[in-house]
Amino acid sequence: MSLQKFVDALPLPSIIKPKDKSDGIPFFEVTMREVKQKLHRDLPPTTVWGYNGMYPGPTFEVRRNEPILVKWKNELPFEHLLPVDRTLHGAEPDKPSVRTVVHLHEGRVRPENDGYPEAWFTRDFENVGPKFAHEVYFYPNCQRPATLWYHDHALGITRLNVYAGLAGFYILRDDEEEELDLPSGKFEIPLVIQDRSFYPNGKLFYPTQPGHEPPPAPQPPPPIDPTLPNPSVVPEFFGNTILVNGKVWPFLEVEPRKYRFRILNGSNARFYRISLSSPSLKFTLIGTEGGLLKKKIENVSQITLAPAERVDVVIDFSTHNGQSIILTNDAPAPFPGGDPPSPDLTQIMEFRVKQKLSKPDKSKIPKQLSCLERLDPADAVTVRKNVLVETTDEFGRLKLLLNNLDWDQLPITETPYNGTIEIWELYNTTPDTHPIHLHLVTFQILSRATFSGDPNDNPVIGPPLPLDPSEMGWKDTVRANPGEVTRIIARFGPFTGIYPWHCHILEHEDHDMMRPYEVLQNHN
Ligand code: C2O
Repeated sequence: MSLQKFVDALPLPSIIKPKDKSDGIPFFEVTMREVKQKLHRDLPPTTVWGYNGMYPGPTFEVRRNEPILVKWKNELPFEHLLPVDRTLHGAEPDKPSVRTVVHLHEGRVRPENDGYPEAWFTRDFENVGPKFAHEVYFYPNCQRPATLWYHDHALGITRLNVYAGLAGFYILRDDEEEELDLPSGKFEIPLVIQDRSFYPNGKLFYPTQPGHEPPPAPQPPPPIDPTLPNPSVVPEFFGNTILVNGKVWPFLEVEPRKYRFRILNGSNARFYRISLSSPSLKFTLIGTEGGLLKKKIENVSQITLAPAERVDVVIDFSTHNGQSIILTNDAPAPFPGGDPPSPDLTQIMEFRVKQKLSKPDKSKIPKQLSCLERLDPADAVTVRKNVLVETTDEFGRLKLLLNNLDWDQLPITETPYNGTIEIWELYNTTPDTHPIHLHLVTFQILSRATFSGDPNDNPVIGPPLPLDPSEMGWKDTVRANPGEVTRIIARFGPFTGIYPWHCHILEHEDHDMMRPYEVLQNHN
């Protein structure tokens, strides 16, 4: 089913207000609810799951070093909206079908506030997972200003909960950044790009088994494959429709001036390689996941975004009055060796540049944006070799693993000491790129190179490959490309305890491409 493009205006998620204060700390309450929401002019309302009944959820606006408290509540139905595979870790038949736990992606928070996959809770906290600690989460906001996001992380059903709509923005600001006079207010817009598929009645489509295709493919689905569980996880989900901020192929009216866009790939598995349809219009890249770059990078014509990656860009529409500019995509799926996107999927949204300014554009993009401490490889106390591998599970399904270990295999193998710097090498022996995300820390990318031979037996490493402009700043998710070793450097801490690291392709994460790591107390 193909819906007409650019007929709905881009929605802007509303800003959430605290309910009250608790000991002087703003206290927020967010309730997950099932609601019906219009996602396109010609689509009947779609049943989605939303934080405070909104998909995407409300945006948090917080300030550096000003902590907040959030009570995340689940008032979702008892039965899942989407097909739950009961053979995946954490989703076994004895577990409630609907479990939720909220992760603040890139939040520098203590483990008990991180949204650990096994800290899930059900409606009214009736059932809780083994790692559940408390109902109210504390977010200290002691970190660089950046575009964070929050989303569900319940073990074994993260892909379904996020697909149902459980994701939102969390924007952290400070005075220093504001003094730069970047485009702000209504000229600063967050964009979350996601792919979905629908039934003609508006219902979200998510495959029940591999090979189950969305309409217009013949429905009901092909006969169940008896050798696989039913429902069964799929290797990765790709939708045939693109949404931005919860609307299918929206348009945005802009003035002929500069805008700042905080762009997040919030898709389960699809990568985007974005450009602007007018060749004379380019992105000025100003930030990545961990906040502003040291210096702006001008004339960027293309940016690759794996699931969970973010960029902060400025687009100057001032020389394009009266024109329509399409935000385009040419990323293959799977990435990088899959099929190029179908014509529908080459378009993401439209910017309609008006003729006139409402007031002069006084915003600036200073050359120097922030101080960016470079971590020195010489300061690393450990180099960890991590290998991304492909195997099969007991049903013969493709299963991707980190270091050939399942999520719950003990002992915990990655155990950095609090406050120390480590280099993590990611050797990808699989045919696809995996966006690897570490909780708690941000990191820098040191290098990428091809390798040949067994990563554990003196592999031959090729010359360094160039990094993208969008890989120059602080990151929390990095693309580990096939046949390459990607090296990242991070300072672990400031908290001790157990945090996940995983592939952010949600179908992979749910099928064991996730491991705990533990930050140990440093006795030195
Ligand atoms: Cu955005 Cu552990 O994830």
